[in-house]
Amino acid sequence: MRDGAVAGGRAGRILQPMNTPNERIRGGAAPTALRSAAIPLTGLALGIDVGGTGVKAALVDLATAELVSARVREKTPQPSTPEAVLETMAIVVARVFAERPPEADVPIGCGLPGAIKHGHMKTAANVDQGWIDYDATTRISQRLERPVYVINDADAAGMAELAYGEARDQPGTIILLTVGTGIGSALISERRLVPNTEFGHILMRNKGAETLVSGAARLRRKLGWKRWARDFNEYLAMLEFFLWPDRIILGGGVSKESQRYWQYLHTNAELVKARYLNTSGIIGAAYAAGLAAHEAATRAPDEAGPVAEAAAGVAEAAEAGKATRPPSRKRS
Ligand code: BGC
Repeated sequence: MRDGAVAGGRAGRILQPMNTPNERIRGGAAPTALRSAAIPLTGLALGIDVGGTGVKAALVDLATAELVSARVREKTPQPSTPEAVLETMAIVVARVFAERPPEADVPIGCGLPGAIKHGHMKTAANVDQGWIDYDATTRISQRLERPVYVINDADAAGMAELAYGEARDQPGTIILLTVGTGIGSALISERRLVPNTEFGHILMRNKGAETLVSGAARLRRKLGWKRWARDFNEYLAMLEFFLWPDRIILGGGVSKESQRYWQYLHTNAELVKARYLNTSGIIGAAYAAGLAAHEAATRAPDEAGPVAEAAAGVAEAAEAGKATRPPSRKRS
């Protein structure tokens, strides 16, 4: 990865006006931040998780976080341009819906590996640079022919832990880190997500931290687990110094091998392994979409905002009957 890439082509591009207009999609619009704390939800939602190496999707039972379809996975196309990734997404979603035809208004959430502002992806550290400033919400919703709620992939993992896992009912400040190809972060403060924290890119020895201590960096640097843990401790100490978390949750690919290094990690905060590893992005994206739909449905009419628009979009799509058919695999 080119570390500078996260700058989204530098500050000028990142610091775009915050009020990027939300284009209405046929049947959907771009919700922004979730306003409510995690609450129990019921029903099914589809979660999609787009990573640097795989695009995964499954239907999730929001009451239990269980997957109620197969977890379908395809390799992320290379180069991972938005257009190519959208085609792969359409394939995995069609496969899930072929196994289990969806209800008309099933919420759909999609985790993407970059900062998300007003439905647009703003950074692209581990995927094609074409994602920078990409109107992900509009384009993905159009391609899947349904409204889609878009969220940063690590924030999605954080939502999964907040709703069902190691951050559930936990007061204080919690940091979740997904350590894999890159390092993603989710910051939870008093049971609410503070989105788009991007702690994987804080400077460590004058480099973006994920280029030194992600799972991919460990392999690239040919570090054993003990040596990697020493560097990772340095990274954790920095996070602790700045944020004083009460709990740190470790997720992502690296946490699958936690028995190899757990004993070497030292933190002041309580350090716990994420409850959901492979499936956190899917579960969290599905939950976030369910929560966005719930927020929109329960909001007062005069509180119209982007999230309310999303719900209106879901209703429209349902009415139009579009939502009963799976996305077509190819569009001419
Ligand atoms: C990206 C984050 C993402 C993480 C894990 C980082 O390089 O900047 O947005 O959450 O990788 O995919």
